[in-house]
Amino acid sequence: MPDPNGEKSAAASEALKLVKNGMVLGLGTGTTFEVFLDLLSEKVKQGLKISGVPSSERTAVRARERGITILAEPREIDLTVDGADEFDDHLFLIKGGGGALMREKVVAANSRHVCIIVDSSKYNGSGIGRFPVPVEISKFLSRHTMKKIEKLGCRCTLRDDGRFLTDNGNQIADCKFDSVPDPVRLESQIKSIPGVLEVGLFTSINWEVIMGTKSGVKTFRK
Ligand code: A5P
Repeated sequence: MPDPNGEKSAAASEALKLVKNGMVLGLGTGTTFEVFLDLLSEKVKQGLKISGVPSSERTAVRARERGITILAEPREIDLTVDGADEFDDHLFLIKGGGGALMREKVVAANSRHVCIIVDSSKYNGSGIGRFPVPVEISKFLSRHTMKKIEKLGCRCTLRDDGRFLTDNGNQIADCKFDSVPDPVRLESQIKSIPGVLEVGLFTSINWEVIMGTKSGVKTFRK
């Protein structure tokens, strides 16, 4: 995995300390999560017993290749580890750069504890909005759905001109706002538009964020 300055590895190693024998883990998606997955699989080889609920087909394949047992309907998810595209001091997140936002949100919402791991490029203390907000939309009349989203004050681009499809068979509209002063309100405004399946604004789940830095890690909690 590309990790030029070691920050992803630092955050992933710190998150690994939260994993205990017998846990059911929510497995995120993305390059930072995959650094964690590599470290986790080393522990599994050494005898750690865990199982996982993947947030994407890509993660499911990679987890199986590393000998991790995949569950479809666990009784409970003890801990989810995932990445993010941007976060701020309120711990509001933008996620979905890899297109897995819908399953990521369901997995996180059903976990007892959620740990987000990032490198320092993802931090924007003054408020999220630098990264376009990914929105999963139905292919049906998708350009009309995008026009409705744009009325909220953004420019929408259909990812890969509509050729990119999520694991759920939907498209992604990447929505660039100049700023996102009220992410909680915006999340519910976008979510209420017909044709929108999920929004890559994560505002209401209680997580900690572990950020890798040049000198170690910094943990942000609500
Ligand atoms: C996947 O849909 C995303 O939410 C990822 O977690 C996010 O894009 C971060 O990915 P990287 O760790 O690859 O930057």
